[in-house]
Amino acid sequence: MPAKGYKGIGMEGPIAKWYAKTTHKDIDEFKKLARRMAERLPDGARVLEVAPGPGYFAIELAKLGHYRITGLDISKTFVEIARKNAREEGVEVEFKLGNASAIPFADDSFDLIMCRAAFKNFTDPVGALREMRRVLKKGGKAVIIDLRKDTPKEEIGAHVDQMHVGAVNAAFIKLSFRMMLLKRAYTRENFEQFIVASGFEKWQIAEAPVGFEITLSR
Ligand SMILES: C[S@@+](CC[C@H](N)C(=O)[O-])C[C@H]1O[C@@H](n2cnc3c(N)ncnc32)[C@H](O)[C@@H]1O
Repeated sequence: MPAKGYKGIGMEGPIAKWYAKTTHKDIDEFKKLARRMAERLPDGARVLEVAPGPGYFAIELAKLGHYRITGLDISKTFVEIARKNAREEGVEVEFKLGNASAIPFADDSFDLIMCRAAFKNFTDPVGALREMRRVLKKGGKAVIIDLRKDTPKEEIGAHVDQMHVGAVNAAFIKLSFRMMLLKRAYTRENFEQFIVASGFEKWQIAEAPVGFEITLSR
């Protein structure tokens, strides 16, 4: 396992605070995703969000049912922000510090794993998938939503323009897609190789706006 879990400088301090504030403007996206995931989650389900950042998905999901939800993120700042957000929203979600390629939970623990807008940043993608498979219960599902490397620039531009983040943030986000995120992102073929190497045997890859939604089953 590489010593550092993330590519680049990581998301601590002001970067994490900026991200939390900016993505909150798009909270409806997280609400929509949480509602869609809740449709197939039984009461009492155990859910892990890998790399939750400010925790918006996990928190919105917690409002929709009696689930036991944990978030695992490598950024100290994000763990603090997510704990504070959960407190302020009055929901119980456990946010822990940790690395996606060394998930600190027992085998067969979770019914659902979510990993959104984060996988391309991991330095050990196969290790992260192996760990997701290990902690997933038989019959459980892991959902990875991430950027597609071959997304045309125009599609990214149109996507960012409907994000309600303001003109300055939108310009910065477009720049970081071009300069950084597309370079880190994977193709469908890359993902298929990682999935096979990780031991998952059942998966579906659906195209989503500017990205993929990959559902892995145990
Ligand atoms: C762009 S943010 C996405 C946050 C959130 N999932 C969302 O949808 O807004 C990427 C997140 O990945 C986390 N991260 C990067 N490498 C990680 C690793 N190896 N293990 C756990 N978290 C990691 C970062 O700290 C950050 O919270």
